[in-house]
Amino acid sequence: MNPTKNDMSRDLRGKMVKLLNDRLVDTIDVFNQLKQAHWNVKGPSFIAIHELFDQIAEHAEEWSDDIAERAVQMGGVVDGTSQNVAQRSTLEPYDVTITDGLAHIDAIAAALARYGQQIRRAIDAADKAGDAGTADLFTQVSRAVDKDLWFVEAHLQNAEPDTAHASDKSSNNGKHPAASKVSAKQAASASRAKNRHALS
Ligand SMILES: [Fe+2]
Repeated sequence: MNPTKNDMSRDLRGKMVKLLNDRLVDTIDVFNQLKQAHWNVKGPSFIAIHELFDQIAEHAEEWSDDIAERAVQMGGVVDGTSQNVAQRSTLEPYDVTITDGLAHIDAIAAALARYGQQIRRAIDAADKAGDAGTADLFTQVSRAVDKDLWFVEAHLQNAEPDTAHASDKSSNNGKHPAASKVSAKQAASASRAKNRHALS
């Protein structure tokens, strides 16, 4: 720890530096996953999804900067290297075989949801430890992640609210329920087209 005249105890600052470093690696990972999706997405809504992923990546870059700099303000040292991120991120690795737009949306929604969960836990941890400043920083990030998750998931959802989320999820290998609805719709439409072809 580096010396500072900040009157927070060394013990508290040490705890916050660890917490901030833990969430920094997740934040850099979510940034990289968003760029991965931004570069590789294809499909009918390409421009909208391509640009949305880039906008959220810009947010993630800001979050990582704020989180890293608070750790340094506490007298800490940050490790935002690729090696550390690869070793310590708590996010699932991004599936590099994805090309379909809906699958990218589903994967990014899952990454943001997991990241949001980790940030909410960090709010509680900072609050319990007694650092209102760090809790406030994580609260700001949390609110922004929730908004970005909404923007991403809106591409998957119908106008009708989904009332069977839990059961859908269990019967859908953890994929977003709307993604399976779209796939089911596509399959039904393909099957109708096949039948039409067979009749003609
Ligand atoms: Fe770009």
